[in-house]
Amino acid sequence: MTLGWFVIVAMSTPAENELLTETGPGTPGGRLLRSYWQPAALTEELEGDRPVIPVRLLGEDLVVFKELKEADGSLATYGVLARACAHRRADLSFGRLEDGGLRCPFHGWLFDRQGTCLETPAEPEGSTFCTRVSQVAYPTVERNGIIWTWMGEGDAPPLPGLDAFAAPSSHVFSFKGLWDCNWLQAHEVGIDPAHASFLHRFLGSVEEEYGLQFRATVADTGVPTTVLMRDVPNPTITAEPTSYGFRLVALRPYGSGSTAGASTDSFTHVRVTNCIFPNAITIPMSADIAITQWHVPIDDESCYWYSTFVSYTDPVDADVMRAQRSDTVELVPGNPKTYRPKTNRSNNWGYNAAEQRDLTYTGMGFDINVHDQWAVESPGAIHDRSREHLSPSDVGIRLQRRMMLAAMEAPSTETQVGTSDPAALRGPGSVDAVSRDPHPLPASTVGACWRSAEAKRRAASSWAEELSLQ
Ligand code: FES
Ligand SMILES: [Fe+2]
Repeated sequence: MTLGWFVIVAMSTPAENELLTETGPGTPGGRLLRSYWQPAALTEELEGDRPVIPVRLLGEDLVVFKELKEADGSLATYGVLARACAHRRADLSFGRLEDGGLRCPFHGWLFDRQGTCLETPAEPEGSTFCTRVSQVAYPTVERNGIIWTWMGEGDAPPLPGLDAFAAPSSHVFSFKGLWDCNWLQAHEVGIDPAHASFLHRFLGSVEEEYGLQFRATVADTGVPTTVLMRDVPNPTITAEPTSYGFRLVALRPYGSGSTAGASTDSFTHVRVTNCIFPNAITIPMSADIAITQWHVPIDDESCYWYSTFVSYTDPVDADVMRAQRSDTVELVPGNPKTYRPKTNRSNNWGYNAAEQRDLTYTGMGFDINVHDQWAVESPGAIHDRSREHLSPSDVGIRLQRRMMLAAMEAPSTETQVGTSDPAALRGPGSVDAVSRDPHPLPASTVGACWRSAEAKRRAASSWAEELSLQ
């Protein structure tokens, strides 16, 4: 099924808005998100002398810790436990990491990472009390710089077979940042291909220094991406359900309007981005790099984005990438670091009227993360979707909400999108491609165009598997 720009305009009702945005234990939306692996912390947060940090995730207070099996850290395993001790609810993030688990300082109860109570040393000798009590614990897996946890019911499924998990650690870099808004608000900027032509627009000459994205040229055309985005502001967008979520394809005919493709100076830009249902996106950053970004609730009014940059060609320089990004967030010494951007509502996201007049569309600097942050935070923590006016270009947002509401009605979590065989998921394909066929392109040409660019990239990669149809 392909959903074009002709979809019917409809708003979400207040009741639907609640369903879509509430994520605490026992809520339909919380159950939905808990049936997928979620990022709990960066591994870099668990470095140092005492790898124990408090984490709030989906409205639950947790403690994440690293258990070192070998002194050199080579056999590190991670645990995620409820933060309140099962005994009398003291805070386990102050616990003692010792004797194969986390020990509560109040009465010395010791829990391993499965939540098993190993000792209750204040009880009489021979007491079997600890066999009758356990700590809430969630399974974990570490992959490419992120500690993942699964908070669903029953047994945890395998991690999806996405590139972000399959890529070798030499070819990835992961980071995170805090946004003061509901996770869905954050996610919806990522499934909205139209905004890039405005929110991230650069008014000056592209020779000038410009942020971290959009400076590259579009394939072999010699046209900088930022110019293409600026000159073709109204892409034709389609949203197509897939095994992992949905694929968004944005077409921008460049050159001679409706005759694009008729000469060597004109072409159609085909940009493929994705929703990995329910709360991640994969988008191309350049010919070599794609980024997968999860939006995970801290609670209903704040969230973290976790991004994994994946290089299909050369290894990445993680130290340089970390230094660039660490500069933009508050890494408050202590426990835990917040990763809150220094630019935020308290300083008007860095807004400067002269810059907005002369240089950038937002007046908020060159960093596209700040632009996105303003777009998702400025409506307020949970914006009122019953007062929106969704337009035809919001086709991805509309599909996301429909899929979420359908998933909440599904008879079991196994029937939700992407849950039946997550390990079989591949990619997803996320690429910028160019077609010189005459505009408008038939759907078959669009598909062949991006799939051929994606196949070329994977054929040249030392690790990426060929992409089968999804
Ligand atoms: S409250 Fe934790 S051991 Fe008593
Ligand atoms: Fe954006």
